[in-house]
Amino acid sequence: MSETKKPSRRILLRSGGGLITGTMLGMNSSVGAETENAAQADPSTGRRPTTLDTDYFKGMYATDPDPWRFASSAYERDKYAATLAALPRAHYGSALEVGCSIGVFTHQLCPRCDALLGLDVVPSVLEQARARCADCPNVSFRLNAVPGDWPEGRFDLILISEVAYYLDRPDLARLVSRVGGALLPEADIVLVHWLGVTHYPLSGDDAAEGFIAGAGGFARVLKQERTDQYRLDILRATKS
Ligand SMILES: C[S@@+](CC[C@H](N)C(=O)[O-])C[C@H]1O[C@@H](n2cnc3c(N)ncnc32)[C@H](O)[C@@H]1O
Repeated sequence: MSETKKPSRRILLRSGGGLITGTMLGMNSSVGAETENAAQADPSTGRRPTTLDTDYFKGMYATDPDPWRFASSAYERDKYAATLAALPRAHYGSALEVGCSIGVFTHQLCPRCDALLGLDVVPSVLEQARARCADCPNVSFRLNAVPGDWPEGRFDLILISEVAYYLDRPDLARLVSRVGGALLPEADIVLVHWLGVTHYPLSGDDAAEGFIAGAGGFARVLKQERTDQYRLDILRATKS
């Protein structure tokens, strides 16, 4: 799969499963944050050239606890249902969710795991995630900015949903290496990425394809699904 779309600096956000522009929204605070961040994109590519740092995400959450509408949009609801349905195994022993945000998907995934660790870069979202998952004693959260900060342990499920495209190519390669070193035998790796136009360092297709190519030495593609809004890629570890 490859993207043929020309990069654009136009800001598109997801809302209720549809695409809306900042202008259409009347520029609420989160859209304002996205617009400001997009202004720092390279004019020739429309993309931010380097990994989006913690301040970017702190800005997104500063005035809106759920800027992407994880808890309320049809897009997220359907994407989460499709992700759960696509998991190759009914149950996992030790799962890692990179970029867990406010824990909406974490809460849905927790019954499928003995232990589940969620990572994010923003302290306030981890507080929300802890509160949302208070009834999940098997879930824990850590403040980690991948790939630089990576948790100890090995996992039979690693989920990277709507995170890899915030990394530049060198950091994506480091993430692949971190994941490769943290897999239990025959572990599953799940990638989910939105396919809309963004100013992020990578498109959804580039992030997923780059990850898959980099992981070729330790994982093979097991399953791929694509809608007009996102792609879902599942890899299976081929060696421990
Ligand atoms: C668009 S949200 C995706 C949330 C959730 N995974 C989903 O698919 O609905 C991206 C989240 O990843 C976090 N994030 C961004 N860069 C990160 C990094 N380098 N390490 C860990 N978390 C990161 C952000 O703070 C944000 O909460």
